[in-house]
Amino acid sequence: MTEPAHRSHWTNRWTFILATAGSAIGLGNIWKFPYMTGVNGGSAFVLVFLACIALVGIPLMMCEIMLGRRAQRNPVDGMQLLAAEARATALWKWVGIMGLFAGLLILAFYSVIAGWVLDYVVRAAGGEFRGIDGATAQARFNAFLAAPLELILWHSLFIAMTMGVVARGVNSGLEKTNKILMPALFAILLVLLGYSMAVGDFARSASFMFTPDFSKVTPVVVLSALGHAFFSLSLGMGAVMVYGSYLQRHVSIARTTLFVAIADTAVGLLVGLAIFALVFANGLEPAAGPGLIFQTLPIAFGKMAGGTFIGTLFFLLVAFAAWTSAISLVEPAISWLTENTRMTRHQAAWLIGLTDWVLGIAALLSFNVWKDVHLLFGLNVFDTLDKLTTNILLPLGGLLMALFAGWVMRTHHVQEELGLASGAYRVWRFTIRFVSPLAIAAIFLYLFGLVK
Ligand code: TRP
Repeated sequence: MTEPAHRSHWTNRWTFILATAGSAIGLGNIWKFPYMTGVNGGSAFVLVFLACIALVGIPLMMCEIMLGRRAQRNPVDGMQLLAAEARATALWKWVGIMGLFAGLLILAFYSVIAGWVLDYVVRAAGGEFRGIDGATAQARFNAFLAAPLELILWHSLFIAMTMGVVARGVNSGLEKTNKILMPALFAILLVLLGYSMAVGDFARSASFMFTPDFSKVTPVVVLSALGHAFFSLSLGMGAVMVYGSYLQRHVSIARTTLFVAIADTAVGLLVGLAIFALVFANGLEPAAGPGLIFQTLPIAFGKMAGGTFIGTLFFLLVAFAAWTSAISLVEPAISWLTENTRMTRHQAAWLIGLTDWVLGIAALLSFNVWKDVHLLFGLNVFDTLDKLTTNILLPLGGLLMALFAGWVMRTHHVQEELGLASGAYRVWRFTIRFVSPLAIAAIFLYLFGLVK
């Protein structure tokens, strides 16, 4: 397929891997995964999550990169072009459109949490956690959430940071940021793990996360685990697709996917282990919910020698991870705007930034002024954005992409793009045609029978 002449590409395969890992590794791993594990019964959630990564996540990540690279376009035009190539209906572009909006909705609530993280970097560095007890940590967190102005400030800063990178473009924005932040993130993670191993209750943490207890596997746990597999690997909305569209032809999609998926899963598990080790060693509550890392970790940091330093490092790590993920949430929209309007990347970044700034304010008011405003299923604005995207839009997007690649595209086109040996290709194709769609559809059907 011919490519638009002016399109940017990653400098090499490693920058693509770093950027995609940067997209995948984020608040999903460090903030969401531990608290969801805590809320959903520990190991039950972890094991179903791992199964979802293997059976649905990895094949779909290959699928998304493949779609993006073949199309060499933003997800909307890309899906339309691939549909034309397969002589199918142009309606497939709606997969791209839906993804574009899902990205904007995700960034709205993502930026709110990232804002909390930025605030906690400053608190940690200022020594605020020293000697803090559970009640004080909780009270400070609640007081923080009750003050919308401060939340708005931090949220604004994070949106500005994200848009500042995106405006600079693929090579000097996305690629450069990931090249600096990702190695820093891995280094900080190692320090933190070592520390948590030395002072935390690792044995209890490991048994909480891995001792199988299937009695706690409920349909809601399965849906949450599936949704989180999508969220954690950045799948189902075109983020990986658009990153794939900047990828050169000769790079192996299967190998890069495996690398990214394993790195993402490993970071989630390791951070989870480290966090629960600190939670248990300090007699804290694992099921604390979204406030988990903000309410419990400061107590642990406050007790340990060097806790101010380690605590600051920890929240910096989370901020870096969130930053490199947020970039990918808006890149599909930015690339669509620049490829279809006369807008420059700068202008597109302003437009998307302002939109998400407003949406994010609506989300953060759920913690104070709009506490009692409920949208879908009795959820507040924040939870509606989260659940609607994570549990519905992402799996739906993934389902449609799998059906498109498995049933609509010409199989020789797919195989040419993936470049797999025929045995491996057959396994992948079977998974993408049957296993992944059926798994997603089964969970959807169950859920819709369940929601009143
Ligand atoms: N994967 C990121 C995380 O774990 C969040 C994210 C970035 C994302 N881009 C995405 C989620 C695209 C879904 C779709 O924090």
